[in-house]
Amino acid sequence: MPVRALVVDPSAPTAVRLAEVPDPVAGPGQVLVGVSHVSLNYGDLNDARSGRVPVGAVLGSDAAGVVVQAAGDGTGPAVGTRVVALTSGAFAERVAINVHALAETPKGLEPAHAVALPVAGLAALRSLRAAGLGPGKRVLITGASGGVGRFAVQLAARAGAHVIASVGSAIRAAGLAEAGADEVLIGLEGLRRPVDVVIDSVGGPQLVVAWNLLAPGGSVQSVGWTSGEPAVFPPYTTVGPAKSLTSFVIEGEVGADLAVLADLAAEGAVAVEIGWQGSWERFDEAAEALRGRRVAGKAVLEVAGEGR
Ligand SMILES: NC(=O)c1ccc[n+]([C@@H]2O[C@H](COP(=O)([O-])OP(=O)(O)OC[C@H]3O[C@@H](n4cnc5c(N)ncnc54)[C@H](OP(=O)(O)O)[C@@H]3O)[C@@H](O)[C@H]2O)c1
Repeated sequence: MPVRALVVDPSAPTAVRLAEVPDPVAGPGQVLVGVSHVSLNYGDLNDARSGRVPVGAVLGSDAAGVVVQAAGDGTGPAVGTRVVALTSGAFAERVAINVHALAETPKGLEPAHAVALPVAGLAALRSLRAAGLGPGKRVLITGASGGVGRFAVQLAARAGAHVIASVGSAIRAAGLAEAGADEVLIGLEGLRRPVDVVIDSVGGPQLVVAWNLLAPGGSVQSVGWTSGEPAVFPPYTTVGPAKSLTSFVIEGEVGADLAVLADLAAEGAVAVEIGWQGSWERFDEAAEALRGRRVAGKAVLEVAGEGR
């Protein structure tokens, strides 16, 4: 029986449309999940147009729902377990998911909140870890109003860092001080004291400014590039005491880190802010809001499938 899914279609206004696709078949070490919620990431919007997800293929990375078929090899959760996962082709009513790519959704955590965690939460958690986070470090987070940014602000604050959140406009600063930011800036002007860590999702000229603010021994994690603009480093900017600019991507098995994030969210230690929620039939609206920088935190789509 076919299932409904959001697939890439370059002729559609947002290059994505609802369609029917073949029922997924679980391979070894995979469960079948009936999806109730998916979350839209900035990267999905890029993937729909870049060719990274081929025409006709299912878009998406973040899914939450219920296991409807356990893995044939006996690994992973049982039928009926609520799970959240990072997987390709997430935006479908039913998805085959590797057991190492998911975590159980703890009691007390709504699937609409759990589904916000995989891409954005893992990028924040792992980029901060890669940068060498520690108490008292000065951590600059650009694009702090977005999905990755809001989780990064909270996780850095929990680790005892001095958190500087940078946003594009005053309205985008809402909620960031409450989330743990010690300073909230519009852009980077006015920031004079060096920082030890930069989690950068904006790229372009801001990345150059952030690099110049980085203290010796510091680390810039290049997580994203929402500005779409080139970064031009003036001559000799990269010559001097050792510091690093490191490319970042989520790779390898994610289940354990996803479980950490889900537990933090269930305990209320990390708040999940949902700036847009609605039926996946309103995908275009959600995509326009995200691209238009009108979503504070995450955009969550409700899937009308068996996982609900
Ligand atoms: N490497 C990885 O594994 C990984 C994982 C997750 C995400 N990412 C990337 O990280 C970036 C952020 O992802 P996200 O899901 O957090 O996106 P998001 O929720 O849409 O947030 C993006 C933030 O970037 C800022 N922004 C958007 N357009 C901008 C522009 N033209 N100039 C300056 N700032 C702009 C916005 O802040 P203001 O409106 O306040 O300016 C917005 O809050 C994306 O590039 C995404 O592809 C990478």
